[in-house]
Amino acid sequence: MVKAATPLDLPLGDPCSGTKIWRWLYEEIRDAILSGRLKRGSRLPATRELAKQYGVSRGSAVMAFEQLHSEGYLEGRSGDGTYVNSHLPEEFLTAPRIAIVGTQTARKKPALSRLANRLPKVVDIGIEPLRAFSPAPSPDEFPVATWAQIAARCLRGATRRLLADRDCRGYRPLREAIANYLGEARGVKCTADEVIIVSGIQHGLDLTIRVLLNPDDTVCVEDPCFPVVPAMFRALPAKVVPVPVDTDGFDSLKAKRRCRRPKLIYVTPAHQFPLGPMMPVSRRMALLEWASRTGAWIFEDDYDSEYRYAGRPVPALQGFDHCGSVIYSGSFSKVLLPSLRLGYLVVPSELVDKFAAARFLTDRHASVLEQAAMCEFLSAGHFGRHIRRTRELYASRLMTLREAMHSRLAGIIDLPNIDAGTHIAAWLKQGLRADDIAAAVAAKNVVAVPIRRFVLQTSRSEGFLLGFAPYTPRQIRQGVDVFAAMIESLLHKQPRPQQPCEKRTQNTRRVV
Ligand SMILES: Cc1ncc(COP(=O)(O)O)c(C=O)c1O
Repeated sequence: MVKAATPLDLPLGDPCSGTKIWRWLYEEIRDAILSGRLKRGSRLPATRELAKQYGVSRGSAVMAFEQLHSEGYLEGRSGDGTYVNSHLPEEFLTAPRIAIVGTQTARKKPALSRLANRLPKVVDIGIEPLRAFSPAPSPDEFPVATWAQIAARCLRGATRRLLADRDCRGYRPLREAIANYLGEARGVKCTADEVIIVSGIQHGLDLTIRVLLNPDDTVCVEDPCFPVVPAMFRALPAKVVPVPVDTDGFDSLKAKRRCRRPKLIYVTPAHQFPLGPMMPVSRRMALLEWASRTGAWIFEDDYDSEYRYAGRPVPALQGFDHCGSVIYSGSFSKVLLPSLRLGYLVVPSELVDKFAAARFLTDRHASVLEQAAMCEFLSAGHFGRHIRRTRELYASRLMTLREAMHSRLAGIIDLPNIDAGTHIAAWLKQGLRADDIAAAVAAKNVVAVPIRRFVLQTSRSEGFLLGFAPYTPRQIRQGVDVFAAMIESLLHKQPRPQQPCEKRTQNTRRVV
């Protein structure tokens, strides 16, 4: 039987000026439903009657009903009028997360993927303010005014073609500019067709893993290493073989002894992360030869290689490769602005389609307007100017750090002769433990990341990674003062070194 319509008793009065009539009617009916004046399941008058009752056009009443319908407040039963829905949308919004509305059955918890269960806990969510000596690129040196002008120009002058660009390899003029830049600055041999724009080296590595690796493949990585890298391989899961680096970086001779046939080798030849040495040409040639003989891919992470303060930079490993084994990667985020998230891969030509397809299936492509701005920034020489200016600035900050460490902590903290990058590994002497010092200086707002955090397997001396690029000379000296004060107090607390005849007690504090 058809239910009788519930008379509507909406507040009389005009809609506020500027409010459309249908919107006013929609809001009044919605209010009546939510306040319970209109009960669930009750039948509403026909739109024609409603329009007559409130002196509005039928069209307005229809529009109000349609909106309430589409939001789930009303339901229509064919040939039977319009009813207030028995489940209002708000119930779904506020429903307890596990219960299923209207049933008593306990919900079976859906399972996560195997990959999700292998993911490490992410601690670096990057929202902490920068504090000396947190290793990070400097956001303060980014030429905001120049970028803003270029970005505005790109937007104002954007053609239909640019606005509709959806090339998943990236914006072609930017790929051309990058190919030119890499040829001149890094000795990379490539054309624009082999460049793929990514959001950074990490994204480039993610695509590489998708395209080149299968679960259980073996990957050689430098030890110590940027911890995200082995975590990404293990998430696949690939088998990670750590190869200890020495003063010349990665050594394929050592690697061969640990792993006969790697599927991929991850290296940072320009400036080993985190220790800093540059891989000499002889090691590069040996690595390429080993890769070509075993059919391994090489992932070359050329992060912040623009920052070399002395000596001639050695061209990228990719430039020496004649077999198409190297996937080369670099990043604008590391040298321009950490939040920019724009980088590039150079891949052998036969892999371009596969990488483009992998990019297409993940997130298609980077923002084209940002790529267009980056293209002009690079082509008009602003990038080169930025690098030259910051190279000088960061070299002077490295010098300030060296001098401050030397004057306050000579014989206690040793800085090696590394002339590249935006961070330095500092080594502790006198049996001090990096973890103790990191904890002590953290209490005074100073960051010292123990090298131990980057080590996979091979034990190392005690040391820290100290970022210097984003900090003023004053901040650097203040940070070193904190180090000096903390180390002094720790040295005072340290037990006397044991004499040969002295008896060990259970409480003797362990000093490495
Ligand atoms: C050695 C190394 N490679 C790659 C990355 C990631 O680079 P991107 O920010 O371009 O993804 C980092 C970031 O700190 C790094 O230290």
